[in-house]
Amino acid sequence: MANIHSSPHPLVAHKLTLLRDKRTEPKKFRELIREMAALLAYEATADLVLQAKQVETPLAETTGSELKEKIGLVPILRAGLGMVEGIWNLMPSAEVWHIGLYRDERTLKPVEYYNKLPVEPTIALCLILDPMLATGGSAVATVDVLKRWGVHKIKFVGILGAPEGLALMEKQHPEVPIHLAAVDERLNERGYILPGLGDAGDRQFGTG
Ligand code: PRP
Ligand code: URA
Repeated sequence: MANIHSSPHPLVAHKLTLLRDKRTEPKKFRELIREMAALLAYEATADLVLQAKQVETPLAETTGSELKEKIGLVPILRAGLGMVEGIWNLMPSAEVWHIGLYRDERTLKPVEYYNKLPVEPTIALCLILDPMLATGGSAVATVDVLKRWGVHKIKFVGILGAPEGLALMEKQHPEVPIHLAAVDERLNERGYILPGLGDAGDRQFGTG
């Protein structure tokens, strides 16, 4: 699939293995999510648009660059929260807008419970943050919300994707690039990614 980018970076592969390990405790798990999010966002933002900016060094004036477009980080609650800090440190002027969605355990369909987006879009480019893209329902619903809000440049940054969810995104929102640490094999009968890393929300927050 053309718009899916699986990170080729050895640091990402190394950290992903630690993240998958069921013995990894919540504190370490959160640290890994934070670090991997920054590495993946670095890759996902390689095509950000720049504009010229004059700057005076201690020795001379020269022409530098600054980011042209306002960026928004959109974590999907809860598990996306852990991806914010590492990326925000790289782009401190980004806005952060939270979207609350949970997956109904029976239907596996996303249920929206929090959205405080203002009427007019305030950003030009949105990075949706969620470690897990399983059936793809949550990712598709979030892109729907952002498009209705009026944002047209949207990227998804996650840790793991399943072929089923990637196919749904390809069908519903083919223009949205998806940046992941890896694409796993498949979903199990409860909609969990295999081999996966378990429940990304529970493992970060010590619940479940
Ligand atoms: C998880 C995950 C995604 C969603 C992915 O959230 O963080 O948001 O499931 O599944 P999907 O691709 O099938 O929609 P969950 O519903 O477990 O909520 P939580 O983050 O609050 O634990
Ligand atoms: N959500 C998770 O946290 N993990 C999965 O494997 C699938 C959905």
